[in-house]
Amino acid sequence: MLPTLVVFLSFFYPPSDSFKYSNDSTVTEIVRYDGRKIPFQNQQQIFHYVNISNPEVEVKVKCAHCNAERCRPLPFCYSIQYSDDEYPKKHGIPTENILNVYDKWGHGQYGMTLTANVLVDPTNLEAIGNANIFKEGDSSERRALFTQWAQKMKQDGSLAIGQLSHAGRQTPRYVNPTPWSASDIQLKTSDNQYGKPIALTTEQVKTEVIDRFVFAAKFSFECGFDGVELHGAHGYILSQFTSPTTNKRTDKYGGSLENRNRIILEIYDEIRKEIPSKEFLIGLKTNSVEFQSEGTTLEDAKEMCRAYEERGFDFVELSGGTAEKFLFNHERESTKKREAFFAEFAEQIRPVFKNTVVYLTGGFRTVGAMVDAIERNTTQGIGLGRPVTAEPDLPKKILNGEVRSAVKDEFNQNEMGKTIMASCSQIEQMGRKSLEGAGGNVMDQISDFSDGKLVEQFDGALLEFMKEVKEALIEGRIPKSIIVFN
Ligand SMILES: *[C@@H]1O[C@H](CO)[C@@H](O)[C@H](O)[C@H]1NC(C)=O
Ligand SMILES: *[C@@H]1O[C@H](CO)[C@@H](O)[C@H](O)[C@H]1NC(C)=O
Ligand SMILES: *[C@@H]1O[C@H](CO)[C@@H](O)[C@H](O)[C@H]1NC(C)=O
Repeated sequence: MLPTLVVFLSFFYPPSDSFKYSNDSTVTEIVRYDGRKIPFQNQQQIFHYVNISNPEVEVKVKCAHCNAERCRPLPFCYSIQYSDDEYPKKHGIPTENILNVYDKWGHGQYGMTLTANVLVDPTNLEAIGNANIFKEGDSSERRALFTQWAQKMKQDGSLAIGQLSHAGRQTPRYVNPTPWSASDIQLKTSDNQYGKPIALTTEQVKTEVIDRFVFAAKFSFECGFDGVELHGAHGYILSQFTSPTTNKRTDKYGGSLENRNRIILEIYDEIRKEIPSKEFLIGLKTNSVEFQSEGTTLEDAKEMCRAYEERGFDFVELSGGTAEKFLFNHERESTKKREAFFAEFAEQIRPVFKNTVVYLTGGFRTVGAMVDAIERNTTQGIGLGRPVTAEPDLPKKILNGEVRSAVKDEFNQNEMGKTIMASCSQIEQMGRKSLEGAGGNVMDQISDFSDGKLVEQFDGALLEFMKEVKEALIEGRIPKSIIVFN
């Protein structure tokens, strides 16, 4: 049996904006990827830049508004651009580039295609440039573009799923130094890139989180999406509620496991009230485990998943980790052979699911490992991320029997930051032209990193990129946000 393939793209985003500085540090406008300029209204904080080849060494930029503390590097890739100047009506609307990207994936014979993070609160972004759905920004233009986005995803029969997120305390300082969270527990990182969050009141849990997810789900439904996936993993706000490390509440949303999980079940119920049709899928991305003391344990995750099954969630995508501790690599030989990073955890959770479909994402590269995971009943679908920026139609080639694995690139797989940057560059390449504009070739302009020489060139481009960014910041010019490669 060949697995259903699910595209999953949460860790990297198509490129978009860069920033202009009026003086040392204040962002005054965002320059779109296509050169158009947009005034930047949320100029709270600004940041230093980190050299990703050498994250210990900070690129020094004088910083006027962050108390000389180290702030946040620019995220290296953005999702969807800010657009034009009319805030908030045009804030975070899909662009032509993103539509072009999904035009390519829309011809890859995926079973289900997910948008990456679409944020439900424009002040609690995961990165500048995220796509947004929020009631204050509702407009016919936004609806038309999200509708087109769904259509691009569905072209060859894939389901289109909107991945809905709210970053909470994982909102970078420069977006919002006081984001929401379950409790006021700050995310501490060495570069101090996150501010101290404000604990939501019981009332605000409803108005600022639940209602916003429900609005975005209904909006997605009305734009033709086949479902939504609530992002309850990786340390975003829903996992800030479920994890005892970040939830110290004493109301009905804190304390027991049942209470910590309540917000997710309430969002489910409220969406189902608005959209009773079971044709519209409601899924959840959740952590199988958090790799830190006091974090969600495997046992907790299992209990929570039992509740999702009982409530009626259509699917659950298992992942793991938070921004404090990611484990997207193979620390153990046993998982290396099986390719899936979280297979062993998934297997232990698996028995609680009967009607809820289980997906597993992260690490799969060969058809053998994919089929093995399905045959072992570890998962009912395979999520693909980085491999499909190199080959947007990988599932099609697998299903046609043309290939037995993803293309093996020549990057050192332990250099995750670099492989993500490379994937971002490939997404930028995909976004340059529509499929028709590319003469029907989904591979149009995409760099083939199985060529070692090209990898060397990319290494060079990366160094050059870092240098340019540093110079641009120091000189107050507009730095680039991604490597436009070849
Ligand atoms: C930098 O820009 C900020 C905001 O526009 C302004 O308040 C500040 O005075 C400027 N500093 C200098 C040195 O121009
Ligand atoms: C897969 O696992 C689930 C949960 O334990 C079980 O209900 C189902 O029967 C299994 N399917 C197969 C084909 O073994
Ligand atoms: C980044 O760090 C690497 C490794 O130390 C160094 O070779 C490179 O010059 C640095 N780049 C910048 C822009 O500082």
